[in-house]
Amino acid sequence: TILILDFGSQYSHLITRRCRELNVYAELMPCTAKISDIPFKPKGIILSGSPYSVYDDEAPHADPAIYDLGVPILGICYGLQEITWNFGGKVSKHDHREYGFANVQITRAGGSNGSVDALFDGLGDEMKVWMSHGDQLSELPPHFHIIGATKTAPYAAIAHDSKPFYGIQFHPEVTHSPRGKELIGRFVLNICQCNATWTMEEFIGKEITRIREICGPKGRVIGAVSGGVDSTVAAKLMHEAIGDRFHAIMVDNGVLRMNESKQVHEMLSRDLGVNLTIIDASERFLGLLAGVEDPEQKRKIIGNTFIHVFEEQAARLEKEAEVEEEKGSEKGKVEWLLQGTLYPDVIESISFKGPSATIKTHHNVGGLLKDMKLKLIEPLRELFKDEVRALGRLLSIPAPLVQRHPFPGPGLAIRILGPVTREQVKILQQADQIYLEEIRKAELYDNISQAFAVLLPVRAVGVMGDKRTYEQVIALRAVQSEDFMTADWYVFPPEVLRRISSRITNEVDGINRVTYDISSKPPATVEWL
Ligand code: XMP
Repeated sequence: TILILDFGSQYSHLITRRCRELNVYAELMPCTAKISDIPFKPKGIILSGSPYSVYDDEAPHADPAIYDLGVPILGICYGLQEITWNFGGKVSKHDHREYGFANVQITRAGGSNGSVDALFDGLGDEMKVWMSHGDQLSELPPHFHIIGATKTAPYAAIAHDSKPFYGIQFHPEVTHSPRGKELIGRFVLNICQCNATWTMEEFIGKEITRIREICGPKGRVIGAVSGGVDSTVAAKLMHEAIGDRFHAIMVDNGVLRMNESKQVHEMLSRDLGVNLTIIDASERFLGLLAGVEDPEQKRKIIGNTFIHVFEEQAARLEKEAEVEEEKGSEKGKVEWLLQGTLYPDVIESISFKGPSATIKTHHNVGGLLKDMKLKLIEPLRELFKDEVRALGRLLSIPAPLVQRHPFPGPGLAIRILGPVTREQVKILQQADQIYLEEIRKAELYDNISQAFAVLLPVRAVGVMGDKRTYEQVIALRAVQSEDFMTADWYVFPPEVLRRISSRITNEVDGINRVTYDISSKPPATVEWL
């Protein structure tokens, strides 16, 4: 395992990703973590970048014990400055931020025929890299030497004279540094001597064993499924581990996509063999949503009602278990609650700066089922989204599902901008269905990160035959995004938009106009509410 200490850079999680892409398991911890508290023995440590300056009063610093572990350390950007600070070199403020591409000249020890440092081994004499920093080194710490320099940064890469400590000013973890991943590979594979054995096949085997140990021979687990990638993969993994002792519950909240619960039933229960109960609670949800327009209110109602419905189901299963027990069943109590928490949520919650400001309350992150007596089981908590997708493929989950766009917990309720009624849901379901069908037909689905239709509460005038119409408007949204923190609107071929618009206005009663949303995030958000 590689330990990555996070000093708050927006790129920290990318370092973790790059290590794992090299099949080396890496974990991110807040930089303030005490080495004695870390539950594993790392084979190497990487210090991330940071928005701080090392001399700031509130600047975060690593536990100095890291330098006594006898393992290699690589400091990136602030990480380099942190090493410098620790070993008594100097860092100075720069007049302007250096932001963009730079060429690092790799220094050869003992002249032009000399050897390059192990960190740059085989990477050539010059490396194109991405820089993003305000401060930079102005004086080497004692016992360090230069191993790479750029025109503006004479100490772009440094190494300790006798210990495996390295610092680099640039960011090898971003894709703008074309050979950055190779450099990280030199560090984790050659210098730290990690084995490249972290694969999804390995993960499945280990995780199934772990789940069986946690649950014991009788324990039962329940978990909500939504039809999305994460909950489906988590459910299938539980099924592989403990079979029918895992109960999946799907709550139909009345604001799902068209035929969603039927499709989930077919896929999860019929094809994958998962023990599934679908609860049709649409009346209850729509009743509570009646007349509500405020987005946060909608989210709260759906989030809370979901918890109630789910708890009722858990209680029902509990009763059944008691009855079965009296009849001498071998099955045990429902003790565990499955959650499809992913690594980015974990990272967010362990950040030393605390979770970032809430712009929208995403009800499936934290908060959910807080008061339940069930213990949490989170088999995906170490994984990034694309690792979950790879896991899904290995678990024979059909490809279209594995590649599915995310769908928000509050569903169509936050895509109907006015009050939510059955009629409005139906209109939006139809438009959404046509939109996605056409995107799939044009083979664009996998190029887009998320696409959906939004039903606007305004009416516009149109003409149909020789009659005037006065009907609602559909807005189409499609974005490309790495992590949904920022997003760009997607540029469709015009003929695809033409087809979608023509089908929606012709086939969906109540819609006579379609618009396309050309706003990016920021300043807009992905969803309209
Ligand atoms: P925004 O609109 O915040 O969306 O730019 C970013 C991503 O989050 C999804 N989203 C939600 N997911 N519950 C969820 O489970 C929510 O309340 C919620 N709001 C937004 C959105 O679909 C996009 O993928």
